[in-house]
Amino acid sequence: MAWALDLTSTTFMLIQNPVLLSVLLIGTVLILCRLGRRIGYPLPPGPDNGRLFPRKSINLFKSWQEFEELTDTYGPVCCLRTWSGTIVVIGRLQAAMEIMESQGASLVDRPKSIAAGEILSHNMRILVMSYGKRFQRFRKALHTHLQPSAVPAYEPLQTRNARELILDILADPDNHLEHVKRFAVSFILCLTYGKRISTSLKDPHILGIQRTLQRMSMASQPGAFFVDYHRLLSYIPAFTKKLHVWHQEELSLYRSHLFAVEEAMKTPNCPPSFGRFLIENKQCHGLNDDEMAYLAGSMFGAGSETTANSLGFIIMAAACFPDAQKEVQEELDRVVGRDLPPTFEHRKLLPKVSAFVLEVLRWRAVSGTGFAHVATKDIVWNGYCIPEGSTVIGNHWSICRDPEAFPDPGEFQLNRWLDKDDQLIEDKNTLLFGFGRRVCPGQYVANRSLFIATAFLLWAFQISQNSKSSIDTTPIPGAVGIKPKPFLAQYEPRIDQLEELPCQIG
Ligand code: HEM
Repeated sequence: MAWALDLTSTTFMLIQNPVLLSVLLIGTVLILCRLGRRIGYPLPPGPDNGRLFPRKSINLFKSWQEFEELTDTYGPVCCLRTWSGTIVVIGRLQAAMEIMESQGASLVDRPKSIAAGEILSHNMRILVMSYGKRFQRFRKALHTHLQPSAVPAYEPLQTRNARELILDILADPDNHLEHVKRFAVSFILCLTYGKRISTSLKDPHILGIQRTLQRMSMASQPGAFFVDYHRLLSYIPAFTKKLHVWHQEELSLYRSHLFAVEEAMKTPNCPPSFGRFLIENKQCHGLNDDEMAYLAGSMFGAGSETTANSLGFIIMAAACFPDAQKEVQEELDRVVGRDLPPTFEHRKLLPKVSAFVLEVLRWRAVSGTGFAHVATKDIVWNGYCIPEGSTVIGNHWSICRDPEAFPDPGEFQLNRWLDKDDQLIEDKNTLLFGFGRRVCPGQYVANRSLFIATAFLLWAFQISQNSKSSIDTTPIPGAVGIKPKPFLAQYEPRIDQLEELPCQIG
C-alpha cells in the first residue's frame, strides 16, 4: 500500500510542477530516441554477439592478422566486445572511405588512455591526444612545416641522405636495415632540430628517443598497466611509479633537444628547423615550453620508425620480386641514365618508381592496425550502428589486402597503380596514412623520402636474395605498426665507381 501512496503523491507533485514534468518528459523522449536508434540499428556482426561476458581485452597493436580474419568471417565492418568497451574493426577500403573519411568529424578523437596518454605523456603526445584546443594548436604548428607547399624545401636534404644511404650499403651491406634507420633518423633530426651532422645510431640522444618509442608502445598495450582498467588505481603510487619516471626521463630528453636549438640560435649560423620555428613563434602558436618540447619530440618519433620500416620492406620487395625491380630499372635507365643519380626533377617522369613504392606500402602496410579512433556520436552505416564511445580501428593491413579494391592482393603488381599509358593513377589510394582529421600530417614528407631513397637504391644496385639465407616476408610488430623480420640481401652495383657517387646537391 505504501508504494501506491508514494506513486500517487509523486504523480500529484509532477502535475503541480510543470517544469519538473517537462524535464522528465524530455529526458524520457531522449532516452527512448536513443534506445530506439540502438534497437533500430544493431551492432555490426562479430564473434561476441550473443556472448554473455565480453572478452578480456585485445592488443590493438599486434592484431593485424587477427582483425583480418574477423573481416574475412564477418564482413567489412565487425565488432568485438571487451571489458573496456566495444571495438569496431573496419577492414575494407569502401567501408573505410564511407565511415572513417566521410564521417571523419565524428571520429577525430582517440580512446582515453590513462597509462600512455595521461600519465606517461601528460596529454602532450599528439598521437594519443584527445581532440580539443591543444590538439588544434599542435596540428596547426605541425602543418607549417609538413604541408605540401613547405616540403619541396627539404629536397636537398633528402637527396643528400639518399646518397649516404647508398654509400653506407655499399660499404656494409649486411647492416642494411641499420642504414635505412640512419637515413630516416638523420633526415628527421635535421628537419626537427637542425642537427646537420651525419648521424650515428649510437648517438645517446637517438638511443634515448628510440627508448621513448618502445616505452610508449609498451604503455599502450592493454593490460600492461592496471590503471587503464580503473582510473582510481592511478592514485595508488605502486601502479604508476614507473610511468612517472618514464615521463620525467622523456620530458628532460625532449627539453634538452630544444634547449640545444635555443643555444644554437645565439650563434650566427643557426640552421632553420621546426624547433627553431616553434621557439621563434611561441606567442603566435600559444604553446608553452613543455608542449613545444613534446611536439618536436613526438614528430621525430612518429616519422623516423615508419619511414625506416617502409624502406626495409622496399628492399625486401626488390629482392623478392625481380621482375618488378627490372621494370623500374628499365625506366630509370631510360629517363635518368647511369651517369648521374636521379633527382626530384625526375619524379613525374618515373611513374614506375612511385608505383613500386605504392605497391610495397600496400603489400606490407607498415601502419599495421593503425591508430585507434573513438566515435563521439552514434554512426549509422548500412543498417548497423557504431555506438558513441566505441573504439574504431581502420585495419590498414586488411584494407590494403581488400580483394575487391586490389584483386589478387597477395601478388605484387605494379600495374595496379598505372593506367594503360603507364602513367600513375593519381586518385588511387590505400588510406595507409590514416583517416579524416587525424590523417598523418607527415605524409607528404614521407612520400618524398621514400621516392628519392627508392630511386637511388634501384638505380645504384641490383638487389637479390642472398643465396645462403632466404627471406621470410612475414612482418613482425614494431614500436609503431609492423616491420620486416631481419633479412640479408645481395647488392650488386649497377653503376661504375659507385663509391665516387657525386654529391651534386644538399
Ligand atoms: C611511411 C611513413 C609514414 C606512415 C605510413 C605514417 C602513418 C601514420 C598513420 C596511420 C597515422 C595515424 C592516422 C590516424 O589516426 O588515422 C599517423 C599519424 C601521425 N604521423 Fe605519420 N606516418 C608516416 C610518416 C610520418 C612522418 C615522416 C611524420 C613527421 C615528419 C609523421 C608524423 C605523424 C604525426 C605527428 C601523427 C599524429 C597525428 C594525429 O594523431 O593527429 N608521420 N601517421
